[in-house]
Amino acid sequence: MEQVNSSTQPIINASNVNYSLEVASGTLHILRDVSLRVEPAEVVAIVGPSGSGKTSLLMLLAGLEQATTGSVIVNGEELSGKSEDDLAQFRRKTLGIVFQSFHLIPSLNTVDNVGLALEIAAPELSMAEVRQKASEALETVGLGARLDHRPSALSGGEQQRVGLARAMIANPPLLLADEPTGNLDQKTGEMVIELLFNLARERGTSVVLVTHDPKLAARADRVVTMTQGELAEKLDKR
Ligand SMILES: Nc1ncnc2c1ncn2[C@@H]1O[C@H](COP(=O)(O)OP(=O)(O)OP(=O)(O)O)[C@@H](O)[C@H]1O
Ligand SMILES: [Mg+2]
Repeated sequence: MEQVNSSTQPIINASNVNYSLEVASGTLHILRDVSLRVEPAEVVAIVGPSGSGKTSLLMLLAGLEQATTGSVIVNGEELSGKSEDDLAQFRRKTLGIVFQSFHLIPSLNTVDNVGLALEIAAPELSMAEVRQKASEALETVGLGARLDHRPSALSGGEQQRVGLARAMIANPPLLLADEPTGNLDQKTGEMVIELLFNLARERGTSVVLVTHDPKLAARADRVVTMTQGELAEKLDKR
């Protein structure tokens, strides 16, 4: 699939975003006046304490939740006010997402887990083409010998590499990753991150990465900190 970002506009332009939920005890302010601009091919790490709103921000950027007020423009599309169908369409062509807990489909082998994402993004491809491309994507992440394995037969690091192959297979202009190494040991996590960075740099993919690992955050072009729903640029990356 072609990349659709143009080099002149930011891939993300979120401005003055507020996100709040009504709960029994009143209004819960989850994000307060958050603005974030990310350029094409830029890698941005979001750090900050548990409960500060990092995942919530990723959800808004993915169009999986709607901002209460403010503007969220991703790849030139304003997400606020879009219908569910339009948001699904937007995600198909724009996003790859990597989760902390992998979210693979247990009954499918690795080829079909990765292939499914491509099938959805590029329905014009034949089943044989999908399988071929999925196998190639798995080879790229070093899993050429695990094509017929189900997730339960894979290590955590291997499962996350399947997750990465799935997120990148349709060549999205933007990759969102929510603590992609959170369930991996240090060494395995570093290997997965190495792969993520390499793939993104190679393809010019923009990345927004949530992490608790300062070493990992330091590899990003830019680090921003979320504190109690407010986002600030972190000048000292360590
Ligand atoms: N659907 C919801 N209903 C009620 N509260 C919510 C909901 N979603 C998020 N919150 C609250 O919003 C705050 C921010 O949550 P969020 O998951 O974005 O934090 P986080 O920074 O990703 O934390 P962690 O590092 O633990 O993953 C938390 O206090 C959380 O309890
Ligand atoms: Mg989170």
